[in-house]
Amino acid sequence: MGITEIGKFTSRPPLFEPGTDAMWSDPHISQQLLQVHLDPNTDLASRKRNEIERTAGWILAQRSDKTMNMLDLGCGPGLYTQRYANEGHTVTGVDISKSSIEYARRSTGQSAKPIEYINADYLQLELPKNRYDLITMIYADFGVLSPAEREMLLAKVRSALRADGLFIFDALNGGDPACRKEQSDWHYAESGFWSDIPHLAFSQTFHYSEEDVLLHQHLVKTDEGLRLYRFWNEFFTHEKLLSLLQSAGFKSISFHEDVLKEEGAWSGKNVTFCVAGI
Ligand SMILES: C[S@@+](CC[C@H](N)C(=O)[O-])C[C@H]1O[C@@H](n2cnc3c(N)ncnc32)[C@H](O)[C@@H]1O
Repeated sequence: MGITEIGKFTSRPPLFEPGTDAMWSDPHISQQLLQVHLDPNTDLASRKRNEIERTAGWILAQRSDKTMNMLDLGCGPGLYTQRYANEGHTVTGVDISKSSIEYARRSTGQSAKPIEYINADYLQLELPKNRYDLITMIYADFGVLSPAEREMLLAKVRSALRADGLFIFDALNGGDPACRKEQSDWHYAESGFWSDIPHLAFSQTFHYSEEDVLLHQHLVKTDEGLRLYRFWNEFFTHEKLLSLLQSAGFKSISFHEDVLKEEGAWSGKNVTFCVAGI
């Protein structure tokens, strides 16, 4: 591929246009990511351990049931699911990353109750109807979905919830204006996060102001070819979330900016938790 072809990838794409490759299911990158999830001192893939502990406790406190049927969408290596199971709940975790699910399965021995883990794309997976008391999706993953995917996910979640069930998720609220800064950067590595062979990685951030959506894209060039990874993330006001959830049939909806307490990358200044019932 010539330089002109490569250059085409560096301009702002149409909103929510996917990249050529997926990060979560790539064997090399998903192993790298697993290490980031498991590092208790960073909050780049999962939040720091005491923040997870506090968030899991807060989530469970939204319902008073002693035992619930719970589903965690995008459960990663099971840092939340294990805590829910240890409190006696029946838990299913779904994740597209084979590395994370394999790690989570290996770790279930550490929890009080067995946990069912499903290695699947939650957008494709058929969910049982009327099954769960509580469905969660944590680390602002709701905002990475395109409007069509979001609509599909909300419909699936709604039909999988029992009549008094709750959907709890967090979303970026864009409260910190610095998060919308456009930038670009590049680096060369013999082996690293993006590939285990020599590669040049060119990273860019674009902000789509009208829709308030951020795109982080990474163009990775190796001797084997070019891969383009795109991560979309939408910022949500309460009004925007309310309108989406109400259109999907959710009725009792509340917003919370007091869940994350730590000073660091994540706090109520940039993350809103949403509790939605049907
Ligand atoms: C930022 S991580 C958060 C993981 C976990 N919720 C936590 O906070 O520790 C996002 C997770 O969602 C998973 N994921 C992304 N897209 C997915 C999809 N379409 N279906 C299932 N899992 C997905 C990724 O593999 C990853 O484990």
